[in-house]
Amino acid sequence: MTMSIKSSVITSNQSSVHKDLESGIKKHLVNPFRKPYRLFSKEIFHKANKVINDLNLPIVLDSGCGTGESSYILSKKNTDVLIVGIDKSEKRLDKFISNDNFYYRDNLILMRADLIDIWRMIKQSNWIIKKHYILYPNPWPKKNQLKRRWHGHPIFPEMIGLCDQIELRTNWKIYAEEFKQALEIVIQKKYLLDSIKVKDFISPFEKKYSDSKQILYRIISYV
Ligand SMILES: C[S@@+](CC[C@H](N)C(=O)[O-])C[C@H]1O[C@@H](n2cnc3c(N)ncnc32)[C@H](O)[C@@H]1O
Repeated sequence: MTMSIKSSVITSNQSSVHKDLESGIKKHLVNPFRKPYRLFSKEIFHKANKVINDLNLPIVLDSGCGTGESSYILSKKNTDVLIVGIDKSEKRLDKFISNDNFYYRDNLILMRADLIDIWRMIKQSNWIIKKHYILYPNPWPKKNQLKRRWHGHPIFPEMIGLCDQIELRTNWKIYAEEFKQALEIVIQKKYLLDSIKVKDFISPFEKKYSDSKQILYRIISYV
């Protein structure tokens, strides 16, 4: 992993869990997200679905996988599962994907796609998701950006219904606290928030924040 640019600590005009978090989640629980799927999302999902059905392996999702390096590392560490990395960025997956938005080799699949569509399609599929990683999501730290954070978005209840074993890593403590609270509101089960010291980085952003001596937070399920 070559990325070694120093990163500054997140600053925000928000000093604790957002006051609208709970009401927003309760609203999203009673009004499921129904935005129609985009055509390109359907195409890429069908491509992946065909491979996944043929392989019939348990899956570990790496949502917002950036360059795909974290998915690659996870695939080497967990050879008994299929790692599925998804990112919408045009540029980030270039190392693996050329022009068909899809990569498959050994136990690794990478897709260029929008999670907002793909998560809902996965939910309706018969994929067996063993674990779901969300590594260093964009924090959207301004107070008025709550709805852009995953737990403030109407997709959240659908997304956490994909799998019990969810692991989020972030360098912004408030994001971790909000995500934990959001999970506990929807799933009514306790999650652990801890800080981690990593030697074997699993993603480029993890390396960048670690190199900058930032504290890294993690949310995992107790089970
Ligand atoms: C801060 S980067 C972290 C990348 C990687 N997980 C890492 O730790 O190095 C967040 C990533 O989430 C992706 N992302 C954000 N919203 C997305 C969406 N709706 N669908 C797919 N990817 C998304 C971005 O393109 C970006 O690559």
